[in-house]
Amino acid sequence: ARITLRQLLDHAAEHGYGVPAFNINNMEQALAIGAAADKLDAPVIIQASRGARQYANDIMLAKMIDALVEIYPHIPICMHLDHGNNEATCATAIQYGFTSVMMDGSLKADGKTAADYDYNVGITKRVADMAHWAGASVEGELGVLGSLEHGGGEQEDGHGLEGTVSHDQLLTDPDQAVDFVAKTKVDALAIAMGTSHGAYKFSRKPDGDILAMNVIEEIHKRLPTVHLVMHGSSSVPEDLQEIINKYGGQMKPTWGVPVEEIQRGIKHGVRKVNIDTDNRMAITGAIRKVFAENPSEFDPRKYLKPATEAMQKLVSQRLEQFGTAGNA
Ligand code: G3H
Ligand code: 13P
Ligand code: NA
Ligand code: ZN
Repeated sequence: ARITLRQLLDHAAEHGYGVPAFNINNMEQALAIGAAADKLDAPVIIQASRGARQYANDIMLAKMIDALVEIYPHIPICMHLDHGNNEATCATAIQYGFTSVMMDGSLKADGKTAADYDYNVGITKRVADMAHWAGASVEGELGVLGSLEHGGGEQEDGHGLEGTVSHDQLLTDPDQAVDFVAKTKVDALAIAMGTSHGAYKFSRKPDGDILAMNVIEEIHKRLPTVHLVMHGSSSVPEDLQEIINKYGGQMKPTWGVPVEEIQRGIKHGVRKVNIDTDNRMAITGAIRKVFAENPSEFDPRKYLKPATEAMQKLVSQRLEQFGTAGNA
């Protein structure tokens, strides 16, 4: 059944688990998540970015979610807009049946310039009012996602920020978080503590200097009932890097967010954990393997089926690791 983010995360908080939010762009990714959730009896958050909406078409995305709800009526499914950039992208997502939207006011609408605090409060509050009138939930973001290791400005993954971002902006200020939630009434709060989007987060296994999990603990102390969201939470598993490179890929050595750090976050109020890159890697590795081992193959099902299975495996691991399994 369709469920809002608020309903889903209230249950997660009550029972002390976290919920991965997986990005989708196509049918195979939707089927992989549905199958994993069904097998493990887990609620799921499926999210689409603005890029996904352009890629797949809003109507196609909406109907895929309708289909999952119909195929798996017993699974709670939240359909969420990832990184909405203004009032309009959030409003149209709700019109297409999304039960939750993210208004990312940490950045200006161009998606690459850090916004000031008053801009963020204003636009997030307007979206929260609108979404709540329509029965949808809202995620806001305070603090700019970016690498503490690389100083925030230049990211290696193409998600570079325009202009200078101070070290301060890369870590959410716990006191400001209290004010932000009070003013905007968001249902969930995304915070910044050193992660970035994409595969190239850290050049070594992260420690407290570059992955500031203590920020989460400070915010949770002040806001014990607020649902926290970790973006950039792919773990970038070494075995997936190896599969991709073994079959002709060229990924440079890199580190993501260790699962045990996410588990620590879940003990301190983290309820939604955004994962896209790990699934992209699982899919790409599986497709490369078929292409390398069987270059005469040209039936897309022959490589999309293993790709779907590889994503289902990754999704299942996270549903187990975050304690989501068994909570549908
Ligand atoms: O925000 C990052 C997510 O991984 C979505 O990425 O904008 O390329 O669809 P995307
Ligand atoms: P990853 O790139 O680490 O998968 O993060 C995804 C994300 O935060 C989507 O909003
Ligand atoms: Na989001
Ligand atoms: Zn994100």
